[in-house]
Amino acid sequence: MDHLLPVLSATHFSHLQCAECEKTYPADQLNTYASCTKCERNILLCNFQLSGLSRESIDAKEQSMWRYFPVLPVFDRSNVVTLGEGFTPLLPLHKMGSKLGMSQLKIKDESFNPTGSFKARGMSAAVSKAKELGITRCIVPTAGNAGGAMAAYCAKAGIEAVVVMPEHTPRLFREECERFGARVVLEKGLISDCARRAALINKQGEYFDLSTLKEPYRLEGKKTMGYEIAEQLNWKLPDVILYPTGGGTGLIGMWKAFHEMAEMGWIDGNMPRMYCIQSAECCPIVETWSGNQSNARTYTGKPTVANGLAVPNPFGERLILQVMKESGGIPVAVSEEEIQQGERIFAKTEGILVGPEGAALWAGLKKLINNKHVHPDENVLLLNTGSGYKYL
Ligand SMILES: Cc1ncc(COP(=O)(O)O)c(C=O)c1O
Repeated sequence: MDHLLPVLSATHFSHLQCAECEKTYPADQLNTYASCTKCERNILLCNFQLSGLSRESIDAKEQSMWRYFPVLPVFDRSNVVTLGEGFTPLLPLHKMGSKLGMSQLKIKDESFNPTGSFKARGMSAAVSKAKELGITRCIVPTAGNAGGAMAAYCAKAGIEAVVVMPEHTPRLFREECERFGARVVLEKGLISDCARRAALINKQGEYFDLSTLKEPYRLEGKKTMGYEIAEQLNWKLPDVILYPTGGGTGLIGMWKAFHEMAEMGWIDGNMPRMYCIQSAECCPIVETWSGNQSNARTYTGKPTVANGLAVPNPFGERLILQVMKESGGIPVAVSEEEIQQGERIFAKTEGILVGPEGAALWAGLKKLINNKHVHPDENVLLLNTGSGYKYL
């Protein structure tokens, strides 16, 4: 009967490459470098041999992000650690759209993911890869959601997990990690302080550090949002995407996905304009973009109700700025009151309890329409990254 089983495509993962100097690294070796060993502070990206990959290589029966296995960085399917992440709904927002005279406003609702946020995608990819590489311990600094997701996937994989989060993070996020068996370390300050503490804990290098963009695999999981958006919209991308931006992995990942799909001939037409929405309490990208600082390395932010947006020194800043420049988007900051208003509007008009990060998109959209960056006739997609239930 074996011959009746579908032939599933293997991964086309070929090598790792520095996003800055393009130095390459082999795909099949343990990679726990914090960044490119040649040009410090730079990010390694996974590269794939894309030629010959058609849309038929999608495993249509797989109802998770692993349907895109050929463009994910795991070699052996038995190493995939999955809790059913991805394949989230893309829904019209008729009532919210009509408030702004829009007929094509949509939401991609990532709150449906295991552990309630899009962090599940990145952690499924990274923990699968960790398992494949024989890693037994992982550590992550987090604003909350990434820690919960890492803890869950590590539990499933039988990997020891340490999560370092700001002490002001809502208690549920800490308890979630502990239920999954992770050790939680609380730190004063924001995620940048947690990153320093995690580096101290990992001085001997015995943990695989899953800090945002300091390893190449989480980005690949996040990139599947881009593949799904294309597939769900029948391979025609929206005109505009609004993304609540902290470390920027999802934004950079989607942009990577769009370029991979264009190279493979899966999509044609224009690329979306990508807009970063930040909290005014912590908006390093807005400040650099406006010329108030040359980069965000010494920016100091304040806590915000949108914990995931409290990333004062994003490691991927250069790539975030590049995505906006290439796509024609801009960054926008919104206030705490506007974020809370957004939460109420999503809930009361559309029945969706978005997290505060996703809620920031509503005020961001209104500002972009008012300053004529976005036209009400355009096809606009709001990327809701997480669930509001975790904040109740
Ligand atoms: C719900 C939520 N939204 C957005 C973000 C920011 O994501 P990114 O690092 O991809 O910009 C986070 C990060 O913690 C988050 O938890």
